[in-house]
Amino acid sequence: MVNIKSTREINLMKEAGRVVGLVFKTIEEELKPGMTTLDIDAIVEKTMLDNNCTPAEKGYYGYPASACVSVNDTLIHGIPSNKIIIKEGDIVSVDIVANYCGYMADACRTFKVGTVSQRAENIVKVTKEAFFNALKLVKPGAHIGDICHAVQEYVESHGYNVTRDYTGHGIGKDMHEDPAIPNFGKEGTGVRLQPGMALCIEPMVLEGRKDTRVLPDGWTVKSKDGKLTAHYENTVIVTESGYEIITMYEGEE
Ligand code: MF3
Ligand code: CO
Repeated sequence: MVNIKSTREINLMKEAGRVVGLVFKTIEEELKPGMTTLDIDAIVEKTMLDNNCTPAEKGYYGYPASACVSVNDTLIHGIPSNKIIIKEGDIVSVDIVANYCGYMADACRTFKVGTVSQRAENIVKVTKEAFFNALKLVKPGAHIGDICHAVQEYVESHGYNVTRDYTGHGIGKDMHEDPAIPNFGKEGTGVRLQPGMALCIEPMVLEGRKDTRVLPDGWTVKSKDGKLTAHYENTVIVTESGYEIITMYEGEE
C-alpha cells in the first residue's frame, strides 16, 4: 500500500530533507584525500545531531554506522571504516537518511575527490542525469514503471548497466515503504502516482557488468567485475503539478 502524506507530514519530511542537504554541503566543503570513510560518517552523524535529526541508518537491521560510504567499485552500503582511506581520483558515494520527529528523508551523492579520470567523471555525470531525466516524468497519473523505464533507458543508452539487485522505494515514517522503484521496467506498468506520495528515485549504475556481490561483512555491495559504480538519489514529493525535491541544498547543482 502506498501512503499518501498529509501537508503536516510533508513538512516534517522537508525538515529532514533540509538536514540531508546540509550534510552534503558540509561534505562537499570538507572532503579531502587522506580522510577515511569513517571521517565522513562522523560528519554525517554530527551534522544530523546538531540539527535535531537522528541518522536513521544506524541500527537499521543492525547496520553499524550513520552513513553508507561507498568508494569506486563499491556500489552501495559501504560500511565506514578507519582503514578505508580516500585518495585523489576516487569517487565516493555517501548515502544518508535523516529522521526528523519520526519522518525520513533519504538521498545519495557520488562525490569526486580532486581530479578524477574521464571514466569516473562520465559515470558520475550519467548517473545524476539518469535521475533528472526520469524526474521529468513524475506527476499525478504517471506510472511507476515510466520512471523505472526512463532510468534504465538513459543509463543503458550511455553504455552502462543498472543494478537488478536493489531498488528505489517509497519513504515516510519508514525508510522503505511501497512502492518499490527498480532501476529498470516497463512504461505504463505499476501504481499510478498521486499527490502526496514520497519517492526515493535512485539510479545505481555499473560501468561493467550488472552483477554485484556482497562482502562477508553482510553489507558492502561491490561490482563483481571490480569496475566503477555510481549512485545518485533524492527524496521527491509528488505534487498536483509534478514534483518537489526535498533533499537538495539551496544552490546545489
Ligand atoms: N539509504 C539506503 C537507501 O537508499 C538504505 C541504506 S540501508 C542501511 O535505501 F542499512 F544502511 F540503512
Ligand atoms: Co533510498
